Amino acid sequence: MRKKIIAGNWKMNKTPSETVTLIDELKPLVATDEADVVFCVPAVSLTTAIEAAKGSNIQIGAQNMYYEESGAYTGEVAPGMLTDIGVKYVIVGHSERREYFAETDVTVNKKVLKAFEHGITPIICCGESLTQREQGVTIDFIRQQIKIAFLNVTPEQAKTAVIAYEPIWAIGTGKVATAGQAQEVCKAIRDCIAEIYGDAAAVAIRIQYGGSVTADSAAELFSQPDIDGGLVGGASLKPDFGRIVNYK
Ligand code: 13P
Repeated sequence: MRKKIIAGNWKMNKTPSETVTLIDELKPLVATDEADVVFCVPAVSLTTAIEAAKGSNIQIGAQNMYYEESGAYTGEVAPGMLTDIGVKYVIVGHSERREYFAETDVTVNKKVLKAFEHGITPIICCGESLTQREQGVTIDFIRQQIKIAFLNVTPEQAKTAVIAYEPIWAIGTGKVATAGQAQEVCKAIRDCIAEIYGDAAAVAIRIQYGGSVTADSAAELFSQPDIDGGLVGGASLKPDFGRIVNYK
């Protein structure tokens, strides 16, 4: 039985001092043994967040990371910097990074490999645009994203990865995918992992849904057989996140 993983993606919100306030407020609301709870905060707040979350079930993740060890990469954050302060997860290939910061399937793959090399669990994002959905190419497109993201990833590593299926048209729009739509794609992703790595990896890997998840939609989405939790944007910055984590 896969343990659910419910992560908040704070995006570019909250200063370090606001981070402490929000974590203190959410700590009692997200306390549970039933799911892994991860807060992915801005890089500048990672250390503060780790400190603020001490003694709770909240784990802290980054929203991005570079794929080189160190060097002349102005503005970037190296994997070793993340592990040094105790970061356990990193979001890789979010559609906002693909759209605004030239992230590609190839750089996503490099980051995924680097994260594993450092023992950081990547939360690998994929998702189609509205045009792709309307043209009926969603599954083909997602399969391509997954296959490239997992190039040279070993079966043992793949088992521990997290994939976030986030249809672009559902992100920040209030237009949540139906449970049926989300389940269909999450199942296709699991089937794709099974084709590459076999059934053991497909059964173990955790697949989240993301895109306008709220306290009202979480229960139906997270009860689907192939949906193992969520990657939550806007609603992760509010007390509502407690209801999402304790969705049952
Ligand atoms: P929203 O929940 O705000 O739609 O954002 C989803 C998302 O992009 C999480 O990574």
